Amino acid sequence: MKPDLLLICSLFPATMKALDEAYTVHRYYEAADKEAFIKGLSDRITAAATAGHEGMTVALMKRFPKLKIISCFGVGVDGIDVPAARELGIAVTNTPDVLTECVADNALALLLSTMRRTVFNDRFVRAGSWLKGGAPLADKVSGTTMGIIGLGRIGKAIAKRAEAFGMKVVYHGRKKQDDVDYAYFASPVDMARNIDVLVLACPGGKATEKIVSKEVLDALGPKRYLINVSRGTTVDEPALVDALVNGRLAGAGLDVFVAEPKVPEALFKLDNVVLQPHVSSGTHQTRAAMGQLVVDNLAAFFAGKPLVTQV
Ligand code: 8YV
Repeated sequence: MKPDLLLICSLFPATMKALDEAYTVHRYYEAADKEAFIKGLSDRITAAATAGHEGMTVALMKRFPKLKIISCFGVGVDGIDVPAARELGIAVTNTPDVLTECVADNALALLLSTMRRTVFNDRFVRAGSWLKGGAPLADKVSGTTMGIIGLGRIGKAIAKRAEAFGMKVVYHGRKKQDDVDYAYFASPVDMARNIDVLVLACPGGKATEKIVSKEVLDALGPKRYLINVSRGTTVDEPALVDALVNGRLAGAGLDVFVAEPKVPEALFKLDNVVLQPHVSSGTHQTRAAMGQLVVDNLAAFFAGKPLVTQV
């Protein structure tokens, strides 16, 4: 008999197929009567799978007293209270490393398309506006300074790409890292005053909530740009929208939003903003690799082996 698996939300199709092959998958998100669903399974479930930002509430964890692992699709596990899970004896796994390069690629794609107005220019040509005259000028990328918030694996991969563009890299994080040559700023406000583009690559959650505050946005000012491939929560979103609408920021490239898939509509009419539907890891290759890690962690758990990528 196949072991039971609780699936909190739908995942990448190939991953769900692999899970269906190995387990009897109980789909929480499809259950019309959640209470009956929980009661029917509460003493049988030892393993769950979910997406990192979707997570699983502590209240729901407590309804499954035999739960021992939550295998997350995604590197960010801000949807899960990891210390609380640990206290309940539940291990949490994520999908690091395999998505680093794709997220960094997309950060650069957003940076280039925002500063060089690539998306605007595409619309300009399609609308026939070129026939009436040239497009407005963009801002130079090469030789500028990038400030990264969160110089972890993804932040470092972004820095490497920025260096290839002749950019200077500086960073802010919880602490100075001794093994990197980039200049460190203890304060995001100070850093914002000394850069051309701010890139967010830190984890979400309480520790980084609104780390890009109104003060940081004001320090960036009308000639600088913001790129966010982390979580919508890391920015004071109303303050960001206000700064963009009123010309107090040069532009923004955003892959993530506070209430995604809802995006503040005030941004839709702005030509200096490039919007993406949370797709930085969204390539066939990377999503397959992420899914494989979800599957491998569950397989290790059921085989009594060490977990592959425990948080
Ligand atoms: C995924 C992500 O898009 O890894 C993360 O933390 O946010 C993304 O890679 C997401 O988890 C997929 O549902």
